[in-house]
Amino acid sequence: MGTFISRELIERIREQADLVEVAGEYLRLTKKGKDYVALCPFHQEKTPSFTVSREKQIFHCFGCGAGGNVFNFLMAMENLTFPEAVRQLAARTGIAIPAVRQEDEQKRVRLENRLWEMNELAGEFYRQCLHDRPEGAPARDYLARRGLQKETVLRFGLGYAPDGWDSLLNYLQGHNYSREEILSAGLAVLSERGRPFDRFRRRVIFPIRNARGKIAGFGGRILGEGEPKYLNSPETAVFNKRHLLYGLDLARPAIREQGFAILMEGYMDVISAHQAGVGNAVASLGTSLTAEQGRLLQRYTTEVVIAYDVDAAGVAAALRGLDMLQELGFQVRVVSIPEGKDPDEYLRTHGRPAWDALVEDARPLLEYKLDQAARTTGDKKRILQQVIGSVARMASPVEQEESIRLIAARLNLSWDAIKSELRRFQVERRLRQPIPDKIANKTHNILTDAKKIAEQEIIRLVIQKPEYLPVVKEELDEELIENPVLKKVYAFVKHPDEQLEPADWMDRLEEGERKTVSRLLLEESPLGDSPGVLADLLKTIKNNNRAQKKDRLLRELARAEKNNDREQVNVILKELAQLLSLPGGEAGPAGKGGKELSS
Ligand code: CTP
Ligand code: MN
Repeated sequence: MGTFISRELIERIREQADLVEVAGEYLRLTKKGKDYVALCPFHQEKTPSFTVSREKQIFHCFGCGAGGNVFNFLMAMENLTFPEAVRQLAARTGIAIPAVRQEDEQKRVRLENRLWEMNELAGEFYRQCLHDRPEGAPARDYLARRGLQKETVLRFGLGYAPDGWDSLLNYLQGHNYSREEILSAGLAVLSERGRPFDRFRRRVIFPIRNARGKIAGFGGRILGEGEPKYLNSPETAVFNKRHLLYGLDLARPAIREQGFAILMEGYMDVISAHQAGVGNAVASLGTSLTAEQGRLLQRYTTEVVIAYDVDAAGVAAALRGLDMLQELGFQVRVVSIPEGKDPDEYLRTHGRPAWDALVEDARPLLEYKLDQAARTTGDKKRILQQVIGSVARMASPVEQEESIRLIAARLNLSWDAIKSELRRFQVERRLRQPIPDKIANKTHNILTDAKKIAEQEIIRLVIQKPEYLPVVKEELDEELIENPVLKKVYAFVKHPDEQLEPADWMDRLEEGERKTVSRLLLEESPLGDSPGVLADLLKTIKNNNRAQKKDRLLRELARAEKNNDREQVNVILKELAQLLSLPGGEAGPAGKGGKELSS
């Protein structure tokens, strides 16, 4: 939306939005002097270096160097463009943005409301056709043949789209909906000659409702055989398959009550299940499961039993969806339905008690994956690689340990071999998730700049306040200083034989070096000279060093992998894991720099 927002307005919005408040919605800020600190959201860290100044309305991370104002913060946090961030804050602060935009927004809301209303009306039309009209007879027969009771049909609001090209169109137009609106609801389609006609014809209609029970779209099944078997509403302003779970509106109470949900594939599976009294069944609408669906379900439960047709072609895609659930923190178990049946068929042929037994026997995702992998290969290493991701994604360490034990037993592999594979996976995954794109480049530059400044300021602090020397000596290796002048100065300061007075050794410096030292001595430290500042500076250097070390290790890893040097690969992976503070990497960073300076 290319609405122009004036600089003044932007200023006003910025003034109204308190950065501390905004940042506080994303981070746990703790007060530290005048400022607030938190764990930096833009890089991995264990002690907070992310600082927010209320007074200055600026944030800065002493670890990665990221910094800016409230807009920059939102942009990086939410991956927004500048105008988007401005708009979000405007909305939050109640400042009205140009009229054009507001009108757009109102128009959108109005259209959405029209679509919701139209969907309800269409649903009613389809229901009438199914129950009250002669042309509904074949559909009534079809549903009866499939074992659905009238009560179930009513509960799910099933309907029938009659034959003909404009039954629904006429009905909706009779209720004052325009062609354009009907088209944008996906209920009609344009012919090649530009004439609208009903999307759904001669199909059983399954209204697809959101969690609150409002009809977002429709699925339509052909009566009997034919292609496509199902036809669904297209994406509309209110229908997005990725965000919906079929049956959730009806399943919510049962899911809460029973503590878990059963995830199925199809409309008919869910309907049959509910009819049989399995009220906690929902379906993912045929596509592979999305994270949005996972988060939706997460509001009601964190345990899910999968009753997909997992022997079918889509196994790999299905498994990816299940990994995602596990990553969201779900306990995932998988039902194996015998004879390649789907839940609908199984329930109808074997009945409820047999079904309950299957659910009872549902196996944890990992076990299921082990079986699945073992079917495609006999190579233990390959099997391990196929399941290790699940282990890495487990939220609880206890669960992880148990899984390792299970794998060790099943594959007859050593604990170490599994740990090593786990470490590799974690390292690779961590490396694949860098700092958000938009700030990555900037951060890199700021990071090196930050290091330059940090070097200088640390040296300034030790020559101004000799009492800091022991701490700095302990924490800062001479080798880590890149600026040759500062490095030399540092060597003088920390040499045990030297007097601490700079005046004593100044005459042994080159002219340029002397200049630097005097400036550092006389200039006031711009950051202040508290122990906290020193700690932050040291941290900046360490982080920078760590980034460099990481790059070096990665290059070495690539080389070792190319040479097929398993032992070396393992050593490097261990080092990387340690460097990235991954759980597999044993204790924190070893040797120098292991101690945190507190402030
Ligand atoms: N699906 C779809 N479009 C298709 C095929 C399937 O949207 N062309 C979705 C539907 O939500 C369907 C689910 O995928 O319910 C599962 O498909 P499938 O197993 O083929 O159908 P069933 O649910 O078994 O349907 P039925 O029992 O009516 O044959
Ligand atoms: Mn089926």
